[in-house]
Amino acid sequence: MKKIRKAVFPVAGLGSRFLPATKAQPKEMLPIVDKPLIQYAAEEAAAAGITEMIFITGRNKRAIEDHFDKAYELEAELEAAGKDALLEVIRSVIPKEINCIYIRQAQPLGLGHAVLCARPVVNDEPFAVLLADDFMDVDAGQKPVLAQMTEIYEREGTNLLAVQDVPRADTRQYGIVSVTPYQQRLEKVNNIVEKPQPDVAPSTLAVVGRYILNSRIFDYLEKLGKGAGGEIQLTDGIAALMQAEPVLAYRYLGQRYDCGSKLGYLKATVAMGMKHPEAGKGFAEFLQGIR
Ligand code: UTP
Repeated sequence: MKKIRKAVFPVAGLGSRFLPATKAQPKEMLPIVDKPLIQYAAEEAAAAGITEMIFITGRNKRAIEDHFDKAYELEAELEAAGKDALLEVIRSVIPKEINCIYIRQAQPLGLGHAVLCARPVVNDEPFAVLLADDFMDVDAGQKPVLAQMTEIYEREGTNLLAVQDVPRADTRQYGIVSVTPYQQRLEKVNNIVEKPQPDVAPSTLAVVGRYILNSRIFDYLEKLGKGAGGEIQLTDGIAALMQAEPVLAYRYLGQRYDCGSKLGYLKATVAMGMKHPEAGKGFAEFLQGIR
């Protein structure tokens, strides 16, 4: 069974729900306390054994490329000032042995189109897709979500989608699957639809921003026209792929925060703020006080 070495990070969306913060920078650079969303996702990928990180960037790409690049001037100044701890913080942003590759999506035509842009680099290997605005937290001692998924991929060898139950009123925000039971926490996907209205949604099991896909998905993405919202949808590509290969849905262990929305972002900030090694204690006391 092939190991998953490559991960695609689509970061070319408009982030319109976060304007004006996203006017000149991608939403994936928004920090949860002191670390940008994209760095959490890159660390999750590295923990799952990913060595090739492929970023699909858009107009406001600079900040992400700079973030994962060496910062010579900053390093020199911190070194001269003897600020060794901070030096280590910025040097460890990108784990060693990782290659970062940047591909530009000229127009934000949709997530399916963004993933298709990675084809020349992914070639015929299975690969992961991580949406950094779906921020995943796990309990201490628990494997990060992508590592849970690569383990299953290595056993099952087929396409895998992270899923969670959502309130029926929210189905219009997600790709929704209908499934038949397969193994513990693992279901066989029979059908997938993008953003169905609550009254017609086939279930309340929603796909969230972690996928492992076989390269055959590209053949289907290439042929797709516009779907829901006038965008080329990854969900539609997966629906077509399902005719040729099994697709599994995995009920991951962990807590997801939808950091593409203001409320989810605030929740993640509070949850991670309270756990933060430096600021956590003081922050928790502050929250007690305002209650
Ligand atoms: P979203 O629809 O959540 O992101 O796309 P958005 O379009 O940036 O945000 P809003 O809705 O305007 O606030 C899901 C993911 O797919 C990426 C986004 O960057 C996000 O990580 N994406 C979306 C692309 O890379 N390219 C696209 O054409 C569309």
